[in-house]
Amino acid sequence: PYPTRVNLIDVGPRDGLQNEKQPVPAQVKIELVQRLQAAGLREIEVTSYVSPKWVPQMADNHAVMQGIARQPGVRYSVLTPNLKGWEAAVQDAPDEIVVFGAASEAFSQKNINCSIAESIERFAPVVEAALAAGVAVRGAMSCTVGCPYEGEIAPERVAYLAGLMRGIGVQRVDVADTIGVGTPLKVQRAIEATLRHYALEDVSGHFHDTYGQALSNTLAALQLGVANFQSSVAGLGGCPYAKGATGNVATEDVVYLLHGMGIDTGIDLDALVDAGVFISDFLGRKTQSRVATALLNR
Ligand code: HMG
Ligand code: MG
Repeated sequence: PYPTRVNLIDVGPRDGLQNEKQPVPAQVKIELVQRLQAAGLREIEVTSYVSPKWVPQMADNHAVMQGIARQPGVRYSVLTPNLKGWEAAVQDAPDEIVVFGAASEAFSQKNINCSIAESIERFAPVVEAALAAGVAVRGAMSCTVGCPYEGEIAPERVAYLAGLMRGIGVQRVDVADTIGVGTPLKVQRAIEATLRHYALEDVSGHFHDTYGQALSNTLAALQLGVANFQSSVAGLGGCPYAKGATGNVATEDVVYLLHGMGIDTGIDLDALVDAGVFISDFLGRKTQSRVATALLNR
């Protein structure tokens, strides 16, 4: 039984742009957020409060959060890896914060400079402070099927991380295929492992498209009833600590898939394509969305 409505979280301004070498001005990021909300996105991952030495592109987090024209009914989320990040983020009143851990020890070290256990110790006070302030908390779980350093990741390790996230009060989690190596049955196993600790409505799929499997993996997740997905307009992105990994599945492509299956998203595909053209033009490259490319060539 497929869900009748799916919620898409566009992570383009954050995951999409974090790895861009050329500085993207805050004004361009603000305009991208504006276009995404105008296209009907109801959740947007705007920025990260991480070390500017590690991820220079997100150093303008405050300017971007202050510059966006917030629309009622839209949830604006931001990444916060530690208390320092939370203390900076709370000044900009996000609707939701995202702590981000990994199912792989090696990736945890490379990405956030600590072990999985240490990361949970760092997240715990962040989660507590956020919930006390009435801010929602999501947990991203990286490398749930494969890791650039450790190879294949067993579902047990995903269940372990999901249990730790649940234990510190994280309200919902993303099952991320950081490097896009997953295939449908492996992705289903990772989701099922997560479902040992989280309800279906609190689990989302976050699939990078490096190996061209992300839409198949999305369908596989839909078959389990997953109704929340992260995707990136124009297929932007990649993680700086996952060499060679490409962007998230393009939001345009997911919308086309869902609408074609009669699943409602509330998103206007043409307006979304325009948003993707806007940011791709700025970056001086073609959109990675197959659907946008097809529609633009009609
Ligand atoms: P660290 O070096 O272990 O931290 O970094 P530290 O506490 O030892 O502090 C070192 C320095 O960083 C200090 O500055 C701190 O003030 C500063 P200094 O005294 O040297 O000038 N610092 C900070 N500055 C700003 N904001 C902060 C902050 N914390 C410390 N929050 C840290 C630990 C996590 C900060 C670092 O490793 C980091 O920033 N990593 C970046 C990770 C990142 O953004 N990765 C990409 C996002 S995750 C992702 O893309 C995956 C996802 O999409 C899902 C998927 O696809 O898998 C979510
Ligand atoms: Mg990602």
